[in-house]
Amino acid sequence: MNKQNRRDFLHFLGRSGLSLGLGGLLVGLDACESPNNKPPKYQKIQQFPLSPIEHSLLDEVVLADGLHYEVLLRWGDDISDTDSFGYNNDYTAFIPFDKEDPSDGMLWVNHEYLNELFVSGFDGDDRSNKTKSMVDTEMYSVGGSLVRIKQQKDGRWQVVPNDPHNRRLTAQTAIPFEWDEPIAGSHTAMGTFANCSGGVTPWGTILTCEENYEMFYGETDKSDPLHPQRVPYEYLDYGWWRHYDNPPEHYGWVVEVNPITGAAKKLVALGRCSHECATVHEASDGRLVVYTGDDANDECLYKFISQKPGSLKEGKLYVANVEKGRWISLDFDEQPILQSHFKNQTEVLIYLREAAKLVGGSPLNRPEDIEIDPLNGQVLVSLTNNKPKGDYLGEILKIEEADKVNKTSLSFKASTFLAGGPETGFACPDNMAFDPSGNLWFTSDISGSSINKAPYEPYGNNGLFMVPNWGNNKGKVLQIAAAPVDAEFTGPFFSPNGDTLFLSVQHPGERSSSIESLTSNWPDGGNDIPKPSVICVRGQALQDLMDNNG
Ligand code: FEO
Ligand code: CA
Ligand code: CA
Repeated sequence: MNKQNRRDFLHFLGRSGLSLGLGGLLVGLDACESPNNKPPKYQKIQQFPLSPIEHSLLDEVVLADGLHYEVLLRWGDDISDTDSFGYNNDYTAFIPFDKEDPSDGMLWVNHEYLNELFVSGFDGDDRSNKTKSMVDTEMYSVGGSLVRIKQQKDGRWQVVPNDPHNRRLTAQTAIPFEWDEPIAGSHTAMGTFANCSGGVTPWGTILTCEENYEMFYGETDKSDPLHPQRVPYEYLDYGWWRHYDNPPEHYGWVVEVNPITGAAKKLVALGRCSHECATVHEASDGRLVVYTGDDANDECLYKFISQKPGSLKEGKLYVANVEKGRWISLDFDEQPILQSHFKNQTEVLIYLREAAKLVGGSPLNRPEDIEIDPLNGQVLVSLTNNKPKGDYLGEILKIEEADKVNKTSLSFKASTFLAGGPETGFACPDNMAFDPSGNLWFTSDISGSSINKAPYEPYGNNGLFMVPNWGNNKGKVLQIAAAPVDAEFTGPFFSPNGDTLFLSVQHPGERSSSIESLTSNWPDGGNDIPKPSVICVRGQALQDLMDNNG
């Protein structure tokens, strides 16, 4: 890394909120400061410390040489006397209490959705038979967990049991809307769920994104404005609406969570859709730029620019027109076509998908996670697949903003960064993370029913991949880990010094037809039921990677 690159690296690290302490919440720390603001060490070894693994069909977490893992949190683990860890962990974020001590902090974990067989015991097809007690159990299993964790001298991480900060957010936690107008008649929603990926703000709060919300309360069909109707989701309907008449409009938002207090609010200004993630960048004037993708076939990519520093309540939302390389305003006052379809900005935000198409947003192939390259400022967007359009393998899209430092400009160039396929050895890219040395890591999400079937046979179980930024494999895709049967790795997040990769193992054994017929027994083996869990990936190879920047 030459001096110019190193300066850019530090600049982007500082501006993109990659690593920061909860001190920002407690003592008003300068949001631009980063505990990682020290120059990377000079290259000391020639051999890149990680070699790729083969694809796997084993019911194990398989890791490259030089890495090992420990299970940190399993579904059902007690985190306090009153709360336990939820199901199907996804996004993780570790925020240290003190930027000088990255070994002690709060881990946030999303709990996206649930497997009824394991969580509530419901195993029929007719969900009108599901009892309220079953629904209550399911409602507890989703949302998020806040857990204090500490790193021991030997490098292992441990949960601090019963720490007063440990708590759950669930589908029954009251969460206010960060908006002056009511949403579907209320200023408060009951709960959060479908929490997929997320982001971290420069002031140390968590953004957790409500993705496939239709599975829980359906969606409103408003084609007859006088008689709007709830329509259950065609692919999976948990049927909670039979016991709780919550409006679909209360879900599909980005939710901001204070990891110290657990206080949460739904950020209406970022719009309502199947938000995969919310990736925050701080411009030099302190305004926030937030990228978010709507993960569904032919849905759009969005950018929000806050009106002022330190708040995501007000600002302007834009949708990408990739063909023209333009961010198009979704401001009611600026767009006559929105004025002819909606009553006001609140309606535009609630029915964001419809509004985005009206102003010319580009339909994309399931925009999933978004990360900003700390070395060059490029914005990477996973487009996982779009099977009806014949895109089975997906790609990672590269967005180069006209103003690559601030990202507040409204024009950009888009191109393919990496395409899935036999040459690159991956399919269906999903969550991404840059390690503190600026190497890209990403996970794959081949659906459980497709794994090892055409055209996915060459890829085996889902995996974790990396793209080195130095060494003889620079720019190549290396598979670093393989997930257990039916599972997907989600939520990769590096500890501040890069010696640990927090990683979710989501939905192992999801195709089990009964408790007696399990497809996976991970992580405990034997005849145990599979348990979604967060693991800590560590090892000498990660240490070497952090010590040796190219
Ligand atoms: Fe929850 Fe788009 O993955
Ligand atoms: Ca995802
Ligand atoms: Ca996915």
